[in-house]
Parts: sequence; structure tokens; C-alpha cells
Amino acid sequence: MSSVQPVESNTPRKYQLFIDGQWVDAESGKTFTTPNPATGENLAEVSEADKADIDKAVSAARRAFEGKWSKMSARDRGRILYKLSKLIEEHSSELAALETADNGKPIKESTYVDLPQVAENFEYFAGWATKIEGETIPVPGQMFNYTLREPVGVCGQIIPWNFPLLMAAWKLAPALAAGNTVVLKPAEQTPVTAMELGKLIQEAGFPEGVVNIVPGYGETAGAALAAHPGIDKIAFTGSTEVGKLIARAAAENLTKVSLELGGKAPNIVFADADMDQAVNGAMMGIFFNQGQVCCAGSRLFVEEKIKGEFLDRLIEKASRINVGDPMDKGTHMGPQVSEEQLNRIKSYVDVAQKEGATMLAGGESPQLAGAFQKGYFFQPTIFSDVNNQMRVAQEEIFGPVVSVITFRDEDDLIRQANDTIYGLSAGIWTRDITRAHRFAKEIKAGVVWINTFNMFNAASPFGGYKQSGYGREMGKHALEMYTHVKSVWVDLSGRPIGWFGK
Ligand code: NAI
Ligand code: MG
Repeated sequence: MSSVQPVESNTPRKYQLFIDGQWVDAESGKTFTTPNPATGENLAEVSEADKADIDKAVSAARRAFEGKWSKMSARDRGRILYKLSKLIEEHSSELAALETADNGKPIKESTYVDLPQVAENFEYFAGWATKIEGETIPVPGQMFNYTLREPVGVCGQIIPWNFPLLMAAWKLAPALAAGNTVVLKPAEQTPVTAMELGKLIQEAGFPEGVVNIVPGYGETAGAALAAHPGIDKIAFTGSTEVGKLIARAAAENLTKVSLELGGKAPNIVFADADMDQAVNGAMMGIFFNQGQVCCAGSRLFVEEKIKGEFLDRLIEKASRINVGDPMDKGTHMGPQVSEEQLNRIKSYVDVAQKEGATMLAGGESPQLAGAFQKGYFFQPTIFSDVNNQMRVAQEEIFGPVVSVITFRDEDDLIRQANDTIYGLSAGIWTRDITRAHRFAKEIKAGVVWINTFNMFNAASPFGGYKQSGYGREMGKHALEMYTHVKSVWVDLSGRPIGWFGK
């Protein structure tokens, strides 16, 4: 019997909160619904967590942290994480379909990108559980000094809706590998796969209370979690605006905080680039996941002398993108996640036109038939004649809207590329390897892609400079966010300290 409720199941889809290993209603009894963004139809009814539920979840996570979880060997912790990765692989097709139904991303993406990376992250961090080590320090004198790497304790984790299950994996896997317990708040737009993950977490054998999953709204459940004095760390992915609220709330209790926020990545095409690669890379940069990607290549810098040819090819290719039913394997772009996001994108299209940018493609919702008429679809949209000072070049749109900006030479480019409050990622397309590496050094961004874009691996760190946040997810660097270093001193001389006389 499958523990994951498949998308085509006729049983009404309902989820309760997952607290202390139990499925429970919210204290208030309230629920909310999450629509399928392709049709606007109701996908699931979900219990709505608020402060009282967050209190319960934090207490459960504390008990689990002080209790069974801290007594468990690192090997057993790793084995449970590994088991979870295997359960995810077993259920990956159901989970991918649910992810697409809740978020709208094409089934091709949820099947071949999201789900494999979700499993990979749990598998990768399962391996780390037994490899988190202290060190011995060569201190002078008759002293022995060593460090212990300890879990920080109870972690609050607030995640967004653009990669719902993958963001849960990025957050949970390193925290659990390091021996922490967690209260996870999924985004209100996309709670479904996180709740299904709760079932697999139970099946994998995590002790009760190690992972608690509390869907709810940001202003209520999210704010209560970030401000909770009972958590030791808060991790957040989402808007820069809310990231600042989280940092302020964390400051009150001096809670350890990590933030993965917005971006306005430069994706740069030099005249010497392989044009096929660069055109495809520009599309991957902005149209993947309907442009709802924090590291999207939303500022497309094109060297002035190839502008005409490059844009012709980009427009031609973009016109062949299939926008439509996300469950169809041939679909390239599904709907945006919500009506709110769709409206936000439309408002930016107006802004771009008022600012004097030229619309070369898209700019509106496509005409789709049947049930999809009510979906939140938007066409791939290209603006040229953008300058880097315009709002569409400075503000995160979070949709399939690219701003094409031209540059003359490398100095002109670097100045513009770095002229943003963000610094999450950057891409460069060139055959000149010295230029590529110069750029990698000079760009203020946490990730640089050379002749590629949107590459990720569980072993490779990801995170931002400037207002794109701080802390690194994935790789060994993620463990920094979830561990304390304790320094232990031992006298080896056996003699009293003589400082105040013998
Ligand atoms: P958001 O930042 O409001 O939501 C992200 C998460 O934070 C959700 O779980 C939400 O419930 C929670 N949240 C919201 N307000 C909160 C508060 N006061 N305290 C604690 N938690 C809170 O993002 P939203 O409103 O969904 O999207 C707005 C814009 O944010 C997007 O258009 C995009 O520009 C950006 N964004 C960036 C993401 C990224 O990956 N860096 C992901 C999602 C959105
Ligand atoms: Mg918001």
C-alpha cells in the first residue's frame, strides 16, 4: 500500500498538522484551501497553524532534541535519513504529480529536476551524519584543546512555494544530519508535498517530534515561529522584504539566522559565445519554473554588437515554448503559482512599458481552452532597450519576464552587473576562459555559472551576497548553519595555576 495519496485519488484530500509524531487539527480548528494553479480548482484542505500550534510544535521539538534524538548514534541518524531518501525515490512519481498539481510546474520539471534532487539531498546529508567531527588544536604549554561540533538545537524553518519539496529537503537534511530537531512551515500556496513528506518521515523511523510540519500563513504561523524564544535557529527562504522581518524577529532573542532571499541575476552573453548554447542558456535562465526562481537570469546582458542576431534567435525560440497543461509531458511552462503572483507580473509589464522598454514577445496571458481558462498562465516575455536603472532591471519580478540590457566592454559590464542590491547568482557565456574567470572573481554573487545556468548539486554550496541573504545551503557549508563549535581545554600538567601565588 502506498503511503502517499496519489494525485488522481478520489478521496477528498485533507491534511492535518504534523506535531510530535501525530496528525492533529489546529488548536483553532481552522483550515485553509490550496488551489491547483492550472485550473483554480481546490486541491486540498489543510489545517491552519497559528501561534498556539507553533508553541506545541516547538515544545515537541525541544523534548525530542533533549530526548531520543540526542541519544541516538550518528550512524542511526544517518540510516534514517538514508531510508527517507529511498522512500522518496520509491514514491517519486506520485510526489512529482502532487508537486505539479499544487505548484503548477511542468511534470517534466518535477519528475526530472525537483524529485531527484530532493532524494539526493537526503542521501547526501545522510552520509554526513557520521562525518561531523571536531578537531584538536595545537595550543602551547601543557594543555590539550579540542573542539566538539554540536547541533544548535530546535530549528525553525520557513520555506517558499517555488520548489516546495526541494526547499524542505535543503532545510531539513543538513539540520537533521547534524542532530537538530525541526519545526518546518511550508508556504501557504504549496503545503501538499510537505505534508506527504511527513508521512514518509514517520515511515522512515524518525522519533516523534524530531520533525514537525505546521502549514499556515506567513503573518501568523511564520511570524510566531520566527519570534519564538524557544527556537535556537531560524532558517528562511523567500522575499528580501520578509527576510528583513525575520532578521528583526530573530534579533529580539538573538536567534541564529540564515536567509536565502531574492535575486536579479545578470546572465551575460559576449559576442564570442557559442550562440546556440547562449540562447538556450538565456531561456533556461528565465523561463525555467515559469521564472519563479530566486537565481533566475532576469537581467540578460548582451554585447552590443550581437544584439540583433541574438534577439532574433531568442524571440524565435521563445515563440516555440509550450505554455499549458503542466501534467502534459510536452509542456515547457505551466501556470504561475497564484493569482497574486500573476497580477504582480502583469503590473511589472506595465512598469516596463511606462519606463520605455520595448516588448519583443509575450506580455500577456495565453488563450487556453477548457479548465485551463481559469489558470494563472503567462507567456514568456522579453523586453529590450532596458537600462540597468529601470525598476524592471532592479526589482525581482519572479516570473517569465526577461530584461535585455546591452554593454560595450568588460568594464562597462562588471559595473552594471554589480549595480544591484542583490548578489545571489550570475551566468556568463564566452569562449574566452581568462575573461570567464576574471568575471567569476569580480562579480559579487554566491554562485557563478560559466557557459551553463541553474546547475545544482547537494554537495555544492548555494547562497547569496548582499541583500540576497547570508549562510550557505547544501554541501559541507550547510552544516555550519546547523552546528555550534565548542572548545574544550584540558590541563595535562597536573599542577595548580600559579597566577595568584603558590
Ligand atoms: P514571502 O517571502 O512572503 O513568503 C515566503 C515564506 O515566508 C512563506 O512560507 C510565507 O508564509 C512566509 N512568510 C511571509 N510573511 C512572513 C512573516 N511576516 N513572518 C514569517 N514568515 C513569513 O514571499 P511571497 O509573498 O510568497 O512572494 C513575494 C515575492 O517574494 C515573490 O514575487 C518573489 O519576488 C519573492 N520570493 C522569493 C523566493 C526565493 O526563492 N528567494 C521564493 C518566494 C518568493
Ligand atoms: Mg508575502
